[in-house]
Amino acid sequence: MCQTPEEALRAVQRAMQERVFGDAGRRVVIEEFLDGEEASFHVLVDGERAVPLLPSQDHKRAYDGDQGPNTGGMGAYAPAPVVTPAVHARIMRDIVQPAVAGMAARGTPYRGVLYVGLMIVDEQPYVLEFNVRFGDPEAQCLLVTLAEDLLPLLEAAAAGTLRGPAVAQLPEAAVCVVMAAAGYPGPYETGQPIAGIEEAARLPNTWIFHAGTAVREGKLVTNGGRVLGVTSRAPTLAGAVQQAYAGVARIHWPGVHYRRDIGQRALRRSVCGNP
Ligand code: GLY
Repeated sequence: MCQTPEEALRAVQRAMQERVFGDAGRRVVIEEFLDGEEASFHVLVDGERAVPLLPSQDHKRAYDGDQGPNTGGMGAYAPAPVVTPAVHARIMRDIVQPAVAGMAARGTPYRGVLYVGLMIVDEQPYVLEFNVRFGDPEAQCLLVTLAEDLLPLLEAAAAGTLRGPAVAQLPEAAVCVVMAAAGYPGPYETGQPIAGIEEAARLPNTWIFHAGTAVREGKLVTNGGRVLGVTSRAPTLAGAVQQAYAGVARIHWPGVHYRRDIGQRALRRSVCGNP
């Protein structure tokens, strides 16, 4: 991503003249810079119908304030207020429904979870990517706010019998804070002993989702870059943030790092009186 025309020229020079990506640099695609807020929009699809889950937001950069290198996702929350009711209606009408109908019309109807990665610019949604899977760590927030079982929903999607227009959701918010190993997203160390999981999991409406852990000689140790996610649900987003960080505070291993600002963008939005 380039902030100035000079940076863009330099990037093209590196790709096309210096060939830093080899032959892949023979052709470049130049896209409009989208200056907005990202959102993750998941729908369950049964070939014809699409039923939305809560809109959510990931935090891709490694450090607070969206600084540092990109990661697989350092934390998420749902619902994401950047997806206002008007934006939600636009996403369903202009993006999801045409995509689902288009796949069916080509004779390749899609059944399963469709995750649309979006940039919202001035209440206008732009597609960044489609994924045929849940987002991680967004899924953790979506699953703990479901008010019905996931399995029958997935079976209905597979069988072509989904009923809409929505799934049953708890009227609550959820936050997932990812705890990562020293060095992540670069080379990271494994095998560090993890303490405090049981204590954190005893907090109300709090779940520890393991991502990169292992049991060695009977002890739980780190075994990946993103090691685990502490997920909490509460009546308000502020409450869920507070509870998730209370869980994070109880868990420790040498070199652990995590972002301290998960959910802050949405909290600022509500303080400013936006939806
Ligand atoms: N949260 C980003 C992803 O799952 O791709």
